[in-house]
Amino acid sequence: MRAVPLLEVDDVSKRFGGIVALDGISLDVGAGEIVGLIGPNGAGKTTAFNVITRLSAPDSGDVRFDGETLLRTRPNAVVRRGIARTFQNVELFRGLTVAENVRVGAHARRGEHSVDDVIYYVGISSVRHRLADGLPYGTQKRVELARALASSPRLILLDEPAGGLNHEEVEDLGAFLRRFRTDFDVTILLVEHHMGLVMGLADRVHVLDFGRKIAEGTPREVQADPAVIQAYLGTAA
Ligand SMILES: Nc1ncnc2c1ncn2[C@@H]1O[C@H](COP(=O)(O)OP(=O)(O)OP(=O)(O)O)[C@@H](O)[C@H]1O
Ligand SMILES: [Mg+2]
Repeated sequence: MRAVPLLEVDDVSKRFGGIVALDGISLDVGAGEIVGLIGPNGAGKTTAFNVITRLSAPDSGDVRFDGETLLRTRPNAVVRRGIARTFQNVELFRGLTVAENVRVGAHARRGEHSVDDVIYYVGISSVRHRLADGLPYGTQKRVELARALASSPRLILLDEPAGGLNHEEVEDLGAFLRRFRTDFDVTILLVEHHMGLVMGLADRVHVLDFGRKIAEGTPREVQADPAVIQAYLGTAA
């Protein structure tokens, strides 16, 4: 049984000059789900995140959150509606400490979890007074996740959370994401190239290629889908 969609991307297109980054894509994420969004480089995954979070305006189509359009919500108000994200290339306030970065999330939207709780939960207590700049990459990614969690999101968009992490860190991340979906009662849309991670975590997966949605299904279904195999082999060739 599929849950009622918390997020609906409805026939969204986005062009950059001659490049069609999104070509009429539709996808949905049900409350409580972990949904994967995969596809080869340049498929449009980050563009989709930017449209959902209002950093980028679609040329056509609609994005609805909890049944209401997001297209009239300003970018800085998206987080107040309960949507948080992390970025493909970590984007922290480098001149601020770890705790200050996390506090920015809590200011945006207060929830039941304190900044201290979130910092502890994400496992960055020992660096809480350090500047974000200069911390190891894996730690910076945790700080960004903590900032997102501190805003008590209903939906969190993670853009390649495993990118740049070592094997052990990826294993930890998988266990962490599974746990925090339950502990924070959050819905997750996950862009990821690490197939082991996304296929092990996701309830369902949407697949993009050249701005089009080419498949949707359970991890098992999409892995067996000839169009998906072709998209990945085609890029590798
Ligand atoms: N601001 C922009 N200006 C021009 N072209 C852009 C812009 N943002 C994205 N694109 C182009 O749109 C297409 C989709 O890019 P996008 O970053 O969404 O892909 P992606 O699926 O996130 O790829 P990756 O897996 O490499 O992160 C690419 O061809 C990209 O070059
Ligand atoms: Mg991307």
